[in-house]
Amino acid sequence: MPWNFDDIKTQLTADQSAVADAKSLEAFRIKYLGRSGLLQKIYDSMKTLPPDQKPLVGKEANVLRQSLESFVNDRKNVLESSTIKPAGFFDPTMPGVAFPVGHQHLLTQTMDEICEIFQQMGFSIHEGPEKETEFNNFTALNIPDNHPSRDGFDTFYLNEPDPSEKGVHCLLRSHTSPGQIRIMQQFQPPLAVVIPGKVYRPDAVDASHSFMFHQIEGLLVDKDVKFSDLKGLVEMFLKKFFGPEIRMRFRPHYFPFTEPSAEVDISWQEGKKDWLEIMGCGMVHPNVFKAVGYPDGKYTGLAFGLGVERIAMLRHRINDIRYFYQNDTRFLEQF
Ligand code: DAH
Repeated sequence: MPWNFDDIKTQLTADQSAVADAKSLEAFRIKYLGRSGLLQKIYDSMKTLPPDQKPLVGKEANVLRQSLESFVNDRKNVLESSTIKPAGFFDPTMPGVAFPVGHQHLLTQTMDEICEIFQQMGFSIHEGPEKETEFNNFTALNIPDNHPSRDGFDTFYLNEPDPSEKGVHCLLRSHTSPGQIRIMQQFQPPLAVVIPGKVYRPDAVDASHSFMFHQIEGLLVDKDVKFSDLKGLVEMFLKKFFGPEIRMRFRPHYFPFTEPSAEVDISWQEGKKDWLEIMGCGMVHPNVFKAVGYPDGKYTGLAFGLGVERIAMLRHRINDIRYFYQNDTRFLEQF
């Protein structure tokens, strides 16, 4: 036989598997079924074949033609109905891939929100250093040498002398109140500032204690600032932060750096007796003005300090302070 149909089939199979798109299918069709394609060559050759070979070649050629035609038709249908789009095709109606977006920590959100409320009332924001002097943290705030908060059990002392030589050591600030001293040493009244930041105390960690937490200090100094200004300011802040239904009371208290001093309690429900302590405040003690060199008797001022964790816990009913620091996303993602 002049044609080796086994070889033809082997080549055919290889060519078929190379057909990937309409263009290569057309090239395949021309190669085998075209006017001068292989099949036509086989038919043409039959004229010169000896009579006994003609039926054999004719039969093989017909089988080949059927298989070629059905392959070309099938593949054409598949390619036309295929959803595979040409490379570079962009379908703008496809849904996008959403990437998870992070957000601020609840403590940062709370601090920002509190600072913003005071900013709206005309306060500016200052930050002081976490490493403080004994003078700024205690002495200038009228905290006597023998006060228990100066004790090593209540304050982290650093092995570094106080450069001002007015105190013995440097320390990690145990409250944001030394920020008041820094502001008054730098600026003359009238002034209104809030000072947010981290504070440190060597407390054993439990559900309500941490060796590091956050406070926001407030200070307003001018001529003729009165206790009623303090009450009005605190009331305005609490209503903005907790909502207009919040109830509050001022309870007399003692702080060395304010006189008179008070603690503020809040409660949500009328008639309920569960008051929750939310902040300390008072009128700046004359000894504090003296420590920063303000002229005697010229100014009065109000001050307050609040714990950020405590406020966030009350507002969001969080019952353990440790959640803030564990960075467990199951907690963080709720806020
Ligand atoms: N520094 C106080 C503390 O950490 C909080 C405080 C109370 C700050 C009364 C003040 C204030 O400015 O007037 O407990």
